[in-house]
Amino acid sequence: MIKLYKVNKSFGGPRMALRQIDLQIPRGQFTFLTGPSGAGKTTFLKLIFRELLPTEGHLIVGGRNTAQIPQRYLPFFRRSIGVVFQDVRLLPRKTVFENVSLVLRIQGVPKREQKRRAYKVLKTLGLGHRMVAFPKELSGGEQQRIAIARALINEPKLLLADEPTGNLDPDLSLEIMEIFREINSRGTTVVVATHDRGLMEHFPDARRIHLVRGQMADWAESPGPEPPVDDEEDEATDSGDH
Ligand SMILES: Nc1ncnc2c1ncn2[C@@H]1O[C@H](COP(=O)(O)OP(=O)(O)OP(=O)(O)O)[C@@H](O)[C@H]1O
Ligand SMILES: [Mg+2]
Repeated sequence: MIKLYKVNKSFGGPRMALRQIDLQIPRGQFTFLTGPSGAGKTTFLKLIFRELLPTEGHLIVGGRNTAQIPQRYLPFFRRSIGVVFQDVRLLPRKTVFENVSLVLRIQGVPKREQKRRAYKVLKTLGLGHRMVAFPKELSGGEQQRIAIARALINEPKLLLADEPTGNLDPDLSLEIMEIFREINSRGTTVVVATHDRGLMEHFPDARRIHLVRGQMADWAESPGPEPPVDDEEDEATDSGDH
């Protein structure tokens, strides 16, 4: 699903944000991305989402080299990926329902169906009753759950979550992670950046990729399950979207 070949990312500073990253994340894997602040976790996720391009090396996501995705195809590429950004990024003038269902609206899904799906996913996250609230009326943790609902509503093949439980209490964090596990068990590849060791301990079978100063470290920490043999033939992430 995701392959990185000798990826370097530099923002022009003295130290590269990511250095010589060589790794594969097979389809269907559940991976934690860990490492101290500034290690490069967000940069890694942004490269996968094609919000950034590598300075050197290349990245294959869903069978596509991200550097070669034509501009006009980018929205389709991104639509197949659910993302929970570290900075949440809700639209302040839109309601919870509008924020969560935006991607469905863009795809021309009828309003009734948008409402049904938004309610369903919000209810799973304990926020079914806040459809008409505005982000500023919600707590930090509630906003974070709205961002999670927005990432899940389109049933993405790939889910990227950057500190998705940063504003949540331990019980709620565990619940959210269990929702991610369930989505993963239905076939979605999941990559979660987190600092929360306690939370990771609940999922000992998940793979861990540890970054330190932009480099991969501690491979032995948790190698995760063996990749499936048929991963070479990953098809593109488009699914009849266009
Ligand atoms: N847009 C940018 N311009 C310049 N430097 C950047 C930019 N984005 C990230 N960096 C630098 O790249 C390095 C990695 O940052 P990144 O945000 O990926 O770390 P992180 O592991 O997500 O940290 P945190 O746990 O604090 O979220 C840091 O040194 C950061 O200052
Ligand atoms: Mg970060």
